[in-house]
Amino acid sequence: MNSLESEAHRLDAADPGRRHLFHVPPAEGGRYPEVAYLAGNSLGLQPRATRDELLADLAAWSRLGVEGHLEAERPWLPYHELLTAPAARLVGARPAETVVMNSLTVNLHLLMVSFYRPTGARTRIVIEDSAFPSDSYAVRSQARFHGLDPDTTVVRLTPRAGEDTLRTEDVTDFLAAEGDTVALVLLGGVNYLTGELMDIPAITAAGRAAGAVVGWDLAHAVGNVPLALHDWDVDFAAWCSYKYLNSGPGALAGVFVHERHLGDPDLPRFEGWWSTAAATRFEMTPVSRPPATVEAWQISNPPIFAMGPVRTSLELFDAVGMPALRERSLRLTGYLERLLDEVTADRPLTVITPRDPERRGCQLSVRIGVGSANELTKRLRHEHGVIADAREPNVVRFAAVPLYSTYHDCWRVADALAATVEKH
Ligand SMILES: Cc1ncc(COP(=O)(O)O)c(C=O)c1O
Repeated sequence: MNSLESEAHRLDAADPGRRHLFHVPPAEGGRYPEVAYLAGNSLGLQPRATRDELLADLAAWSRLGVEGHLEAERPWLPYHELLTAPAARLVGARPAETVVMNSLTVNLHLLMVSFYRPTGARTRIVIEDSAFPSDSYAVRSQARFHGLDPDTTVVRLTPRAGEDTLRTEDVTDFLAAEGDTVALVLLGGVNYLTGELMDIPAITAAGRAAGAVVGWDLAHAVGNVPLALHDWDVDFAAWCSYKYLNSGPGALAGVFVHERHLGDPDLPRFEGWWSTAAATRFEMTPVSRPPATVEAWQISNPPIFAMGPVRTSLELFDAVGMPALRERSLRLTGYLERLLDEVTADRPLTVITPRDPERRGCQLSVRIGVGSANELTKRLRHEHGVIADAREPNVVRFAAVPLYSTYHDCWRVADALAATVEKH
């Protein structure tokens, strides 16, 4: 074991995470029994608690049948309410502003039904050029839905020449200059490709000052960085739970709507029987009576077996707390950055994530100068048991997840890159 590897073990002993609470996949290649898992920004690992909790919900169904709606240990009718307070704490919201439902892109559409209302000259939607493609497709289809040309309606903000990430002023200057044509700003809180953490409060303030509605896709931010959506005056936000929230593939997603919009009878919304206030749900009347909470955006009765994993995960976040997680994240990501700097110095590799820890979460993205991202991640996996995430053509993403990643995982990334990528 070389001295750098011993240092990684020493750091792990001094600053342990909660890896023991997760299933870590076995490695197929390399020198270690488990993989070094750096792909939690794509799909988080399975918490050990999830299986038993899910089995308990299944057992209630086998024991009670339909009576489980009221008589299960965690009755199904109000089950989603168990998730509301911990989800609200995670994003800095009030419980009335937060609900767990559906999937991310579906929720973005449901929110745009309410919050993208082009009128007169104010029709444009601002996104970042490197927005996740699903968001691009969503906003383009919203423009078409309103009879608008997506090519002129959707504004894609690009970084300055020679830069990899947007500066806050790139967004706020645009809004100051052209904000009166903008109906909606919809950006990623943490950019999926570069790992850049946007200045959510500053951009939200600039968008609202320009008269636009400001929404955030928090897929890569939730569970990664501290959030204060209510205080930041964000209009709406949506996130998924399968990345840093470790709730399983395709897990249920979350939604935030600021309280100033709650109970607004003029706001268009799509409705179903879960949009009406719980107390009125079984009155079987033809007209809904929605509550003055974000639950008015719910439509269908929720899938209980998908809610269990989100509940278990949120309990873990509550137990550890975002402030402590962020502290460990800063230490771990700083360590990974130091090791990557050594490896990339004499190889065709460039870290494109912002260097200021306040402008990023736990993901570091590396642009590769030679070969394809897919090829590199395949070799990292099969030859070294390191799981990272490729974004073709040339970006590989590494997420040192503060809940379960170790310093030794970070060391393995750098060691594997050094062995796989030839020097200049
Ligand atoms: C930033 C971002 N937005 C949207 C999506 C799409 O999510 P979903 O398939 O859950 O709608 C993803 C998926 O990875 C994402 O990373």
